[in-house]
Amino acid sequence: MLSIPYFQLHRRSSVPLAEQIAEQLLRAIRTRRLTAGQSLPSVRELAASLSVSMETAQKAYRILKDDGWIESRPRHGTVVSHALPNSLVMLSPKRVETRGSLMEQVRAYRHASGLIPVSGVSFPPADTAFMRAWKQSMADVFACTFVREEGEPFGIIELRERIQGLVAGRGMWADTEAICMVNGTQQALWLLADQFIKPGDVIGVPEMCYLPARDVFRDRGARVVPIPLGREGIDVTRLEDVCRREKLSMLYAMPNAHFPTGLSWSQTVKQKVLALASAYGFSILEDEYFGELYFTPLPPPTLYSLAQEEYAKVDVFYISSFSTMIHPNLRLGYMIAPEKYVSRIRQAKYLLDGTTSVMAQQALLLAWERADFTGYVERLRTTLRQARDGAIASMHRWMPDGYQFEVPMMGTCTWVYAPPEFDSLRFFERCLARGVYVRPGDAFAVEDPMPGFQVKFGAVEPRMLEEGLRRIGEVLALQ
Ligand SMILES: Cc1ncc(COP(=O)(O)O)c(C=O)c1O
Repeated sequence: MLSIPYFQLHRRSSVPLAEQIAEQLLRAIRTRRLTAGQSLPSVRELAASLSVSMETAQKAYRILKDDGWIESRPRHGTVVSHALPNSLVMLSPKRVETRGSLMEQVRAYRHASGLIPVSGVSFPPADTAFMRAWKQSMADVFACTFVREEGEPFGIIELRERIQGLVAGRGMWADTEAICMVNGTQQALWLLADQFIKPGDVIGVPEMCYLPARDVFRDRGARVVPIPLGREGIDVTRLEDVCRREKLSMLYAMPNAHFPTGLSWSQTVKQKVLALASAYGFSILEDEYFGELYFTPLPPPTLYSLAQEEYAKVDVFYISSFSTMIHPNLRLGYMIAPEKYVSRIRQAKYLLDGTTSVMAQQALLLAWERADFTGYVERLRTTLRQARDGAIASMHRWMPDGYQFEVPMMGTCTWVYAPPEFDSLRFFERCLARGVYVRPGDAFAVEDPMPGFQVKFGAVEPRMLEEGLRRIGEVLALQ
């Protein structure tokens, strides 16, 4: 039975007593003073011991029941919920009240065990043939790495040649001189911002995006302007409004498989953005994080390739990553820069870290040959397409009316668009209490969040994702 000495009720506070009681019980659950399955006092006992009305005690239990923290069990009365995630202890016992603290929670739970991860970046499932080749390559690298000459800042030329072939398959022509290996695309973001953004520059970013990119721009003193997203891509009318009002220096764009929504821009939007870049003289930083992971018969065109065809004067910096194709811990990505900037970037890269991890590059080069990289990526696309189809089928089963989503043509995630009154804070907490980790719009919003949440596929077992979405459906029915 619960002992209640730690309850402190402030009878003159503007916070209703029922909420105070619920809040303190919640703290006890989060800090493990109350554990899963533990019995709670009856409503009558709780009311008597706290000197509050039965109605107040009942209301407090109702709040916690709706949020999934406690439940009624036949013969046991009210108990702490059995389905609590086993990582609650990571949370500070403070209830979230602001967007900032919601974000802290979302971050704190990112790597929690015992939760079904419905959101986040999905990294590739292990492929036995590729793993075997990778293991052998690592052994070979270890044997030969100490005899190799020091690296060229842009990376091993043979690997850059492979990448040249890879991007040619996407209709992109790049000289090997213009391809630079980086320690993850995050490094490319930083390098480009460092070299091309000055304090006070205006940078356009999609209203929802990979937030470290926004933070890199702000860190350079830039003013970041969020550009709204429509269902066809970035809102070109709003982008043009911004261009008319101010001098836009650069647009950070994810035209294919935008993170976090999975949305790919239509051809019309891509053309219109390039036309605006040409007319108003801004450069484009194209982040194709999911570069090779497309499900269409033909690869979707990149802004880089379209610019080469029609808008040769527009500067497009293209970045992509092996994080989504092999593993993020490899820390390998590449950037393709307009030729006129190559020597400047080479010098900056040399000053920054000499070159990108030579061991990682060599291992990739050897595994590329050994494992038939093209065949491997082809298998990966098939696996992800099946995972996507499974996720969409589960979403059709569990998302209630009023919640919309689209079938992504590329990448590892999609987005559920919620009605405008969607309460993301409550939603996040209610899902957590049901053992589901899901990121609402707040986790990706440059300023104001889009109502809704991200669903990823590929890394989570289809049956597990189905269960996660079923629980989310339950929560949405309460919203
Ligand atoms: C859209 C996007 N761009 C870039 C990155 C940086 O990735 P990495 O440095 O692993 O290549 C991420 C990581 O999650 C991302 O989601």
